[in-house]
This record gives sequence, C-alpha cells and structure tokens, in this order.
Amino acid sequence: MLFKNLRVVTSKGTVDCDIQVDHGLITHIGKDIPGEGTDFSGSYTFPSIVDLHVHARDFNQRYKETVKTCTEAAVAGGVTTVVDMPNTDPPVITKEAFEMRKSLFERESVCDFALNFGVVDTMEEISQVTPLFVKVYLSETTGHILFRGDSRELLSLGKPIAVHSDLETTKEWCRLNKGILYVCHVASKPEIEFLRGQQVIREVTPHHLFLTRSDDVLSTVKPPLGREEDRKALWSNLGSIDVIGSDHAPHTLEEKMQGASGIAGIETMLPLLLHARHKELLTLEDIALRLCDIPCKLVNSLLGYRKGFFVGADADFTMIDPGKEWVIDASEFKSKAKHSPFDGWRVRGKVVRTFVKGESVFEADL
Ligand code: DOR
Ligand code: ZN
Ligand code: ZN
Repeated sequence: MLFKNLRVVTSKGTVDCDIQVDHGLITHIGKDIPGEGTDFSGSYTFPSIVDLHVHARDFNQRYKETVKTCTEAAVAGGVTTVVDMPNTDPPVITKEAFEMRKSLFERESVCDFALNFGVVDTMEEISQVTPLFVKVYLSETTGHILFRGDSRELLSLGKPIAVHSDLETTKEWCRLNKGILYVCHVASKPEIEFLRGQQVIREVTPHHLFLTRSDDVLSTVKPPLGREEDRKALWSNLGSIDVIGSDHAPHTLEEKMQGASGIAGIETMLPLLLHARHKELLTLEDIALRLCDIPCKLVNSLLGYRKGFFVGADADFTMIDPGKEWVIDASEFKSKAKHSPFDGWRVRGKVVRTFVKGESVFEADL
C-alpha cells in the first residue's frame, strides 16, 4: 500500500514524502517511491494522534457511550489511539476489570488503545496489570474512585501516575513525586504558573483553551472552566503545555441538564486546534508536538508501542484539509452524546481521512 505526496506534520516541521505501508506498518519513507498509490496532495498528515485522556464509558454505562461509538468518534476526530480512563461502572480498579476492559477494547475498538488503571485504597493489584498510568482521583468527579490510600506508598511503587487534583494537592504530589507524574487538565492561571517549573507532564483540554465559565449547562465540567484570565494564561504558557487531551466525557442530554460534569470533545479537539492555527494562536508543529510526538513517546517508552513517524511504526495517519471551512454540528457526532458547547461554531480545518495500522477507518463526506 502506497501513500503518495504526503505532507507529514511533525513537531520539527513538515516533510514531503511518499510512505510505503505493509501489514499495517511503515516500511519505507522516501521521495517518489515507485508504484501505484493513493495521492494525498493538498492535505496535511499527522502521524499517530494519541488522545491520552478519554472516558469511553461502556460496561454499565453503554447508554452514555460504548467503546465502539467512542472510538468511531475518535477516528472521526482524527484520533488514532485512545487512552481510556478507569472511572467506569464498575471501575477499573481490579485485575479482573482491567482484563475485561482490555478484551472489550480488543473486540470493539476501531482504533488503537491503551488503558489506565484506577486505585482507591489497596495497591496489591497494580503490579498485575499493564496500564499506561495509574490514575489517581484526588478530588471528587464522575464515578466513585476517590483515592483513600497512602500517597507515599503509592509513589514508592515507581509506576507512572496521572492525577486529577486540585492545586494544593497537586503541589503536595509534585513535592513527593520522583517518577513520572502526569497532571490532567491544567485549567487555571495559578496552576499553569506553578507547574511551569515542575518535573511533570502538563495536560490541557480544548475546552479550557477555548471556553470560559458561563451558565451553559452543556459546558459543565471538572475542573470548572476558568475566567478569561485563566484561559489567556493557558495560551500564553503554551510552551509549557506538554499534551492536549480531549477529556472526552460523554453524558446524556438529560444528565447534562441535571448538572453532570463532562464534555464529549474527541470529535472537536483537532478541528478546534486547526481553527486556532488559522487564527495564528499556534502552529501545526505546536499541534503535532502535543497530539503526536509527546503522547507517542509516552506510549512507546512505557508500553512498547511503535507510534510516530519512522520506519517500523504503526501506519496511523490523519489527513486534514487546513483550509476547509465548516460548521460543527453535534447532531452528527459519532459519539452518543450529540450535544456540545461548540455546536454551531464555524471553524476552519477539517479531518478528511483517518487510517489506523494502514486501514482506512474514517472518510469525511465533503
Ligand atoms: O468533567 C469531568 N467529567 N471531569 C472528570 O474528571 C471526569 C469526567 C467524567 O468522567 O465524566
Ligand atoms: Zn479528571
Ligand atoms: Zn477525565
């Protein structure tokens, strides 16, 4: 399978090339590779977009979202690997639930995936599973898996940890931490300013970059949206944001009306960032660093995945048309949550095609 005339976006610039793919892997990157292939001139290609923060629901919450609908939404949004969060019902806090989750994804997922593992009190089972991160809920949110264990004991296990936390507790964990600490959804000015000098991985969500607090129930989320000065501080500290993750957190419209926290954002993340690029708030390279390069390095080094732009990598590609203007229509989402605070936004930049391990998994109606 030959991909012709690609313009591949990496954090270090764009590369014009052809790519040969065999058995789902990149086997050759070069100029004018001979042979019949599909021509992709006019579009840009992101290699392996990994969304490190996804709540795929399923299990007893299939009414909100299933692995199938979530990953269909992912590839429609250009995401080729999702990393699933453990605050499910039942939660992924035992080896048994982890194994169930894994086989569910193996059966139903239309993109690649990795799983996080939750911890409430006992740490016995952590060594028996292979998550990307151990996710630690240190402040209240959807689900009931607030951490009640001993932080020093958990940190002494040396596992990569992702935290959902408030600023004071984050500060404490930064002090105690000696390993890999991933701070989810940095949302406020004091938080990004504190974390600037810390040895942690800082994640920001699209909703905290694009929205401020309002009385729109569709945008209720944890951590809450900031004020304009918080939002601006995230943009002015873009250099210290390592990862942009969607925090895709679908709920039904009825639940949203009753105050449920979470935004189904996996289909709008890349389009919103492409629109911001059109507005010159960031570059394609900035997007590639935070959606591809840093997340790929994490799954490669921690789980032995082969994600990225190199011979031997999985052929995960997202083609985008940077100039295409269109209107976000939540009623057309693949996600079961067909509502969004971004519904009706006119944006420039569209996902046109998505490949996972060489297989075409999404093609936009243009
Ligand atoms: O708003 C949120 N919703 N924040 C979270 O951290 C969890 C998420 C969910 O699972 O609904
Ligand atoms: Zn969270
Ligand atoms: Zn989350």
